Amino acid sequence: NIIKLIDKLYEENLLNKNEILYILDNIKSYEVDYLCEKAVATRKKFYDNKVYMRGLIEFTNYCKNDCYYCGIRCSNKNISRYRLSLEQIMECADLGYKLGYRTFVLQGGEDNYFTDDKIVEIIKSIKYKYDDCAITLSIGEKSYDSYKKFFHAGADRYLLRHETATEEHYKKLHPKNLRLSNRINCLRDLKEIGYQVGAGLMVDSPYQTNENIAEDLIFLKDLNPEMVGIGPFIPHHDTIFKDEPTGSLEKSIIVLALTRLLLPSVLLPATTALGTINPKGREAGLNAGCNVVMPNLSPTDVRSKYALYDNKICMGDEAAECRNCIEKRINMAGFVLDTSIGDNINWHSPL
Ligand code: SAM
Ligand code: FES
Repeated sequence: NIIKLIDKLYEENLLNKNEILYILDNIKSYEVDYLCEKAVATRKKFYDNKVYMRGLIEFTNYCKNDCYYCGIRCSNKNISRYRLSLEQIMECADLGYKLGYRTFVLQGGEDNYFTDDKIVEIIKSIKYKYDDCAITLSIGEKSYDSYKKFFHAGADRYLLRHETATEEHYKKLHPKNLRLSNRINCLRDLKEIGYQVGAGLMVDSPYQTNENIAEDLIFLKDLNPEMVGIGPFIPHHDTIFKDEPTGSLEKSIIVLALTRLLLPSVLLPATTALGTINPKGREAGLNAGCNVVMPNLSPTDVRSKYALYDNKICMGDEAAECRNCIEKRINMAGFVLDTSIGDNINWHSPL
């Protein structure tokens, strides 16, 4: 039954919620291998053996939100907060450009210090200097107007994980002021404005059921984003979820492979969280259909302060070390690093 369902998914890139749930509930190890084979074959049709590289700049760990799972949530009084200046951000971009990066991901907590004007200034500064690069923003929920300003300043892509597509589950992970409906409206606004959009979720987040994951995958299929970020939940010692179990590698791999098959041309990172729960986690991700890696370009002295979860890898490594380490890993796994701008192959700019 499962093999038949995987074949159907491979042929049609479509399954209904019950079929996805059936796979999640019943899949055996040898069937996971088959699922991954099909996911890699699908990925190869569009991207061959290429893996795209994005330089991650974590420019602030201040956050006004209080997501229960996140280490930089505002009620965590035990971390030391930092913000990078425009000059520091430009130093990261300069170094990244020299190391071959052509996409910069500006990620941070929801930090009101960075007004729209400041974000626009950062985007324009990078774009003015490096007009052959893409800018991805990952700075949370903003108004339509703000998203529009950033887009017109030169931002190309936006990562905003939906976290979970089930209302009841969303409420268990977030305080009342954060609403799933708002998150989804943001994603739709971003699409309408013309960004390449990334949604996504944590696997094995507290209270998550297989039915929730099936809902997530149906939601993703309907949204049809250009990128999807999926990684395991990992507890952070200063959150209320500190005693919850770490997400499973196998479950993460299954969800990644299903995502590749449902959205064949999607840009799908083998995340740092995957590499954190298992030394070969990112390689396992590549062998389940992932085609993006996001090494860290943040200055080493702030790395450990951007701790969303415990035991995050690459904390002390220089940007050049991360870049070289990741290339070796990609090659060893049988893939090749591609340093081009790396848009989704089906992407047609609206401009
Ligand atoms: N503030 C922006 C936002 O909300 O989209 C970007 C930064 S946010 C920290 C980036 C992502 O980290 C979240 O979407 C969440 O899925 C992930 N994350 C946070 N805490 C995590 C944890 N404990 N384990 C795994 N991933 C986590
Ligand atoms: Fe910052 Fe969730 S804690 S966005």
